[in-house]
Amino acid sequence: MSEPESNPPVRTVASTQSEMTEIILPNDTNTLGNLLGGRLMHFIDLTGAMAAYRHSRTHVVTAAMDHIDFIRPVHLGDLLTLKSSVNRAFSTSMEVGVKVWAENTRTGTVAHVASAYLVFVASDEHGRLTRVPELKPETPDEIRRYHDALRRRQHREAEQARRKQEKLAASALEESKA
Ligand SMILES: CC(C)(COP(=O)(O)OP(=O)(O)OC[C@H]1O[C@@H](n2cnc3c(N)ncnc32)[C@H](O)[C@@H]1OP(=O)(O)O)[C@@H](O)C(=O)NCCC(=O)NCCS
Repeated sequence: MSEPESNPPVRTVASTQSEMTEIILPNDTNTLGNLLGGRLMHFIDLTGAMAAYRHSRTHVVTAAMDHIDFIRPVHLGDLLTLKSSVNRAFSTSMEVGVKVWAENTRTGTVAHVASAYLVFVASDEHGRLTRVPELKPETPDEIRRYHDALRRRQHREAEQARRKQEKLAASALEESKA
């Protein structure tokens, strides 16, 4: 018998894979007729959250969006396709990767336009952080992303600690001037 959907001990990357397609309309673009960066980040956040929901099966909030590359512009009328999956689950957080392609509807040309990594944190309906199931990578690509996700987490933590130190040093300097 298969595991109950509500609380499995382990999930596969495939079970988290999510996809969204949007047509780029005038309201999504800047004065050059290109997709706005903020709008693209919104689509990335939504598609990333879908994978996180599928992994955690609970509420999730976006804790971080990092390493976003805008590779080329997306034009009015293009079809934007975003694909996401969980790269690694930690205790209450999950790193999700999102890749984005744009299709020119007249020529059919498809180009990779952006990639991003996001961290989502799972919580219950009262906002209490919740443990998430383990993620089991299966394919060589999934295993590579799983290991890379730990390195990025360590990098994020080091960066957070560095910023905290900088803030402390700045307020100590302010206090010494007062
Ligand atoms: C994200 C949030 C829940 C973390 O809360 P917190 O009390 O700082 O939690 P903790 O320090 O105990 O960390 C909990 C988990 O979040 C991760 N986390 C916290 N801040 C993070 C950050 N800036 N980047 C990446 N991961 C982060 C921790 O690594 C930890 O993961 P783990 O349990 O898997 O080890 C909290 O900062 C928050 O609610 N932020 C606002 C979220 C939001 O409104 N998002 C936009 C709308 S959805």
